[in-house]
Amino acid sequence: MKTLKTLIQHILGLKIVRVVLKYIYLITLGIFSSNRILSIIYHIVFFPTYSREQHGVLKARFKYYRNLNTTQSTKVDLRRNIHRIEKGLLMKPQRDIFALNYIEETIESYLGYVSQYKNDLLSVDIGELDWSYDVLCSYFASIKGNSKTDKLKYLFESANYSPDTSKKEKDHMSPYYRDIANNIPVDYDSLLNLALKRRSVRWFEQKPVPRELIDKALLVARQSPSACNRLPFEYRIFDKPELVNKISKIPFGAAGYSQNIPTLIVLVGKLNYYFSARDRHVIYIDASLSAMSFMLALETLGLSSSVINWPDFEPVEIKMQNTLKLGVDERPVMLIAIGFPDKDGKVAYSQKKSLEVLRSYN
Ligand SMILES: Cc1cc2nc3c(=O)[nH]c(=O)nc-3n(C[C@H](O)[C@H](O)[C@H](O)COP(=O)(O)O)c2cc1C
Repeated sequence: MKTLKTLIQHILGLKIVRVVLKYIYLITLGIFSSNRILSIIYHIVFFPTYSREQHGVLKARFKYYRNLNTTQSTKVDLRRNIHRIEKGLLMKPQRDIFALNYIEETIESYLGYVSQYKNDLLSVDIGELDWSYDVLCSYFASIKGNSKTDKLKYLFESANYSPDTSKKEKDHMSPYYRDIANNIPVDYDSLLNLALKRRSVRWFEQKPVPRELIDKALLVARQSPSACNRLPFEYRIFDKPELVNKISKIPFGAAGYSQNIPTLIVLVGKLNYYFSARDRHVIYIDASLSAMSFMLALETLGLSSSVINWPDFEPVEIKMQNTLKLGVDERPVMLIAIGFPDKDGKVAYSQKKSLEVLRSYN
């Protein structure tokens, strides 16, 4: 048996065999990538990993519709529709009436959220409710109503919700004029220097990261742009050494330095924020935009970080799902190692691309 294994290893190691295998692989890929039907067959036979994504997306769509009428700390349909109304309110010129095909479902969702709030004050994201209230007030105040919107306005007002002004995040949460007369708070050179200072740091001082600093960085991270303002992700933060140690070993990318990470984040994308498979990539885009702001903010607080790749690979997916109790529709986007940088640890130079290669116009 051993001799057979050695023989096979020997044959596979021969240069001529390697070259032939490479060509067979290339020809196979060439044939199966030549049209979509063959590509589907290839993925069913040789690469079934997409079936997990299909399962996750379908489960997410089911959950999206199921969750519409259940208690949720954030209401994705409301967030989306309120955002669509915000955009209608800032149009130049604003139309006399708009949002007619979704205002009814918006009010329905708003009423559900208000009654959830009245049942349990802490069960809602109060900022989301106040924002919805202000935008809907502006909507009904500014459109030329018809019988349908008059009825909905009446329902909106009968909900009898008004924000607690002493606790409100901002006085007015509907579209506003930005103060552009004042100077931009950070100049270009400071921002460039911050970007140059941030490097992927893999060696950290062995001391805990204060949670207040993580929260401060998250206040920056949540300001990132997000499709229809859904923010379809969650920062799962781990700072218990035994958990950090366990989770950081699940992906492959932290091998060699996982044991010295003080705080670890798993950024989890939520596919159930979408009713359609067409938006399945948005979790990766939105979460990554937020992660970048987060990592820059960490640097301003004296902390450093490194992204750890999340491979879409069945065995590690299952380990992470089990460890974090994730549903199939919850997708790790990336992991982020965080800590105070160890001055005795080197960072990679990692040369960036020249602008000539990076960009093209028109
Ligand atoms: C999506 C993504 C995955 C990454 N995965 C890993 C990883 O698994 N392990 C690691 O040590 N670094 C990882 N990195 C860090 C990159 O190697 C690093 O960002 C790159 O070399 C550029 O260096 P800089 O971040 O210092 O500018 C990852 C970065 C990104 C954005």
